[in-house]
Amino acid sequence: MTTATNIQPDYNMKVVRQFTLTTILWGIVGMSVGVLIAAQLVWPALNFDTPWLTYSRLRPLHTNAVIFAFGTSALMATSFYVVQRTCQTRLFGGPLASIVFWGWQLVILSAAISLPLGYTTSKEYAELEWPIDLLITVIWVLYATVFFGTMAIRKTSHIYVANWFFGAFILTVAVLHIVNSMAIPVSMSSMKSYSVYAGAVDAMVQWWYGHNAVGFLLTAGFLGMMYYFVPKQANRPVYSYRLSIIHFWALIAVYIWAGPHHLHYTALPDWAQSLGMVMSLILFAPSWGGMINGIMTLSGAWHKLRTDPILRFLVVSLSFYGMSTFEGPMMAIKTVNALSHYTDWTIGHVHSGALGWVAMVSIGSIYHLVPRLFGQQGMYSTALVNLHFWLATVGTVLYIVAMWISGVMQGLMWRAVNADGTLTYTFVESLEKSYPFYALRFLGGLIFLTGMFVMAYNTFKTVTAEEGSIKPQELA
Ligand code: HEM
Ligand code: HEM
Repeated sequence: MTTATNIQPDYNMKVVRQFTLTTILWGIVGMSVGVLIAAQLVWPALNFDTPWLTYSRLRPLHTNAVIFAFGTSALMATSFYVVQRTCQTRLFGGPLASIVFWGWQLVILSAAISLPLGYTTSKEYAELEWPIDLLITVIWVLYATVFFGTMAIRKTSHIYVANWFFGAFILTVAVLHIVNSMAIPVSMSSMKSYSVYAGAVDAMVQWWYGHNAVGFLLTAGFLGMMYYFVPKQANRPVYSYRLSIIHFWALIAVYIWAGPHHLHYTALPDWAQSLGMVMSLILFAPSWGGMINGIMTLSGAWHKLRTDPILRFLVVSLSFYGMSTFEGPMMAIKTVNALSHYTDWTIGHVHSGALGWVAMVSIGSIYHLVPRLFGQQGMYSTALVNLHFWLATVGTVLYIVAMWISGVMQGLMWRAVNADGTLTYTFVESLEKSYPFYALRFLGGLIFLTGMFVMAYNTFKTVTAEEGSIKPQELA
């Protein structure tokens, strides 16, 4: 039986419940802002001539909300759950876990207020100003203390591979955040600061940070989730434990070098750009090794995909992971990047990773968790989980296909030249041609967001039902 009763009573599940519910809440908020900015790109008047509703302020609000509020809450919920279950001990540090929860909510609130007000360092994914950066550092150190402290007091001899991935994510994000956010405030009473780095060095540090935020937050952390929840939901052991160890070491050894692929054809030394390209190509191997390990875990359990939409979320997320980690190395090749850079192709790649992989693996894991955390044997409605699965899949596909077409079209239009060497198209012509695809992306986003509301309703009904009253269901 998989009710809350089989979760050992001395585990700290309160903080897991809190982070699980806020993942859904912040998912809805972050994706709503995504849908709004997608709409603004079709109907620019939607900024209502209000400074704090302008695209330039809402775009970083979207990225911060989906990555640090939605994604990171999902990672905190699952890492705190997995580390307790696999180490068979309560979270280390007593009230520290609760401080991590409330402290992280304070970080999110500060971001939600300061970004629309226009406070920004203008470093992508690191826009938050120095007082918030300091708060993030303190909360992250506490998070690391609770996580690694729990591993240190574990009652098992062995450390399950999911914890290796969560641990690498926590450690690396701490180092990335501290190094990239080094700045000097204009004065102690001012929110404004200037980075300690300048010029090409600033760009290199920024994309070492930016790419490894992708590699360690949007990838390694979610792989930790994959290594626990895919075997659990499929009720099968992980396909190859040996492969998972090779996957871990290869991934972390290579990711850290690939950042310069964001700076092709810039003032960064050419050798550094080529190094970034080569490391990105090598990265394909461990990425696919991990994906295959996840998918092959279903060997002998494929039939479960017919009746279990939660497993569908997890398996489809792995397929999108495979797709974006094939596309990424291709885009890192300098000649391909000459076409894709600055175009919507990048946005398509981002969201095949973000919606298809990050959001779907989180959603699947949370559907696995909710009944177990709230004393039920299943979600209130499996049919609604299935509806959500289709809304998420169709929404993601519409979004990324629209961006691929518009991105390749933009790249080709920008580089087209006439026989006399003049440009064939003006920039505005390429923009006009992009509009139908922006409308399609808006529709895809809206469909994905609708799925999130379905999830919120289903979760609400599960959480508020009388304990033990919901029985396991399968699709007919
Ligand atoms: C083997 C794995 C991957 C490689 C080699 C890779 C490579 C790339 C490349 C070459 C770009 C375009 C850089 C540019 O032209 O500016 C890019 C952008 C991006 N990728 Fe990936 N990618 C990988 C996987 C992923 C995954 C799984 C995600 C997850 C969400 C992701 C998220 C992003 C983001 C957010 C950007 C945009 C960064 C920005 O300009 O703001 N990537 N990636
Ligand atoms: C309903 C779902 C979503 C919609 C409609 C949406 C929409 C958008 C839009 C319109 C942009 C700006 C594109 C541009 O400047 O051309 C954007 C950027 C971005 N979004 Fe989303 N988004 C959604 C979900 C997500 C999720 C779940 C994540 C991450 C987990 C995410 C991560 C990002 C990132 C990293 C960027 C910046 C990409 C770059 O600079 O290259 N989005 N999104």
